[in-house]
Amino acid sequence: MNTEDENKLTSGELADAAEFSDERTLRPQYLSQYIGQDKIKEQLDIFIKAAKMREESLDHVLLFGPPGLGKTTMAFVIANELGVNIKQTSGPAIEKAGDLVAILNELEAGDVLFIDEIHRLPMSVEEVLYSAMEDFYIDIMIGGAESSRSVHLELPPFTLIGATTRAGMLSNPLRARFGINAHMAYYELRDLTEIVIRTADIFEVEITGDGAHEIARRSRGTPRIANRLLKRVRDYAQIKGTGTVTDEITRQALTMLDVDASGLDYIDQKIIRTMIEMYGGGPVGLGTLAVNISEERETLEDMYEPYLIQSGFLIRTRQGRKVTQKAYTHFGYAYPENENGG
Ligand code: ADE
Repeated sequence: MNTEDENKLTSGELADAAEFSDERTLRPQYLSQYIGQDKIKEQLDIFIKAAKMREESLDHVLLFGPPGLGKTTMAFVIANELGVNIKQTSGPAIEKAGDLVAILNELEAGDVLFIDEIHRLPMSVEEVLYSAMEDFYIDIMIGGAESSRSVHLELPPFTLIGATTRAGMLSNPLRARFGINAHMAYYELRDLTEIVIRTADIFEVEITGDGAHEIARRSRGTPRIANRLLKRVRDYAQIKGTGTVTDEITRQALTMLDVDASGLDYIDQKIIRTMIEMYGGGPVGLGTLAVNISEERETLEDMYEPYLIQSGFLIRTRQGRKVTQKAYTHFGYAYPENENGG
């Protein structure tokens, strides 16, 4: 990546440490404070209350959806509502079965174990999870090749909450062991606007209704992006305006940051422009595209493609990805006649 690219605002996953700690203080603690995802909240509220009433652990929960929609936040809210401890880890962090055994061994009855990026668990670790999830025990092999024996370890009942960007990446046996499946969808504009107002309130930033609406509109349905844009617009308002975040200040700040009127950022724009300029609008394979715009294939697939598809700029075909007529128009290119099917 050249330095020019590095300075552009993107929704890249490498948020810095300060950003993570900010996210922590911003996090709602209870379902009643969590904005949006109404269907999931309604279901969880019932399942949590029922489990508590029966004094049982909540069934295992699988949260899936694009990055930045609040899967981790939701896991912490669930633990809070249950009134239990939560232990957090991630798929790539658990390298060996022994790592998982050590974590499971520390759980107390009813606790939540949250595994982010659960699709990236090694197979050997995943296999240990099956009996742990289903019947709360594990059989582990200890000792060397000649004196190895199996040890049976009973576990307290616990709730596993797994998060993944795509449910399709999970193996069938693992997916089948989750009793509760929650598909997190992109947020409605109304909910995102409310989140921006809530965050502005926490940051003690003055913001107009139109300003909040404008930030929400350009946040690609994603609270993490909305909160990040708000911080940058706040800086801009402080230096170039009166400190109040208005719609006009938002437009100016986001133009400076290369976030366009639809909220497409520098990388989104690069994806579409590359497809049009180098591949006649496609079809083009994701791997080829990734090489051309110097991004990881997985980043494109998890972070950029879902929103571009959902907002009608991109389609998936058997031959590869294609841009739509809407994309040509949005970026000011003439739509090729022969694409009209006429
Ligand atoms: N901050 C980020 N996401 C949020 C949400 N869904 N509800 C409330 N505050 C949030």
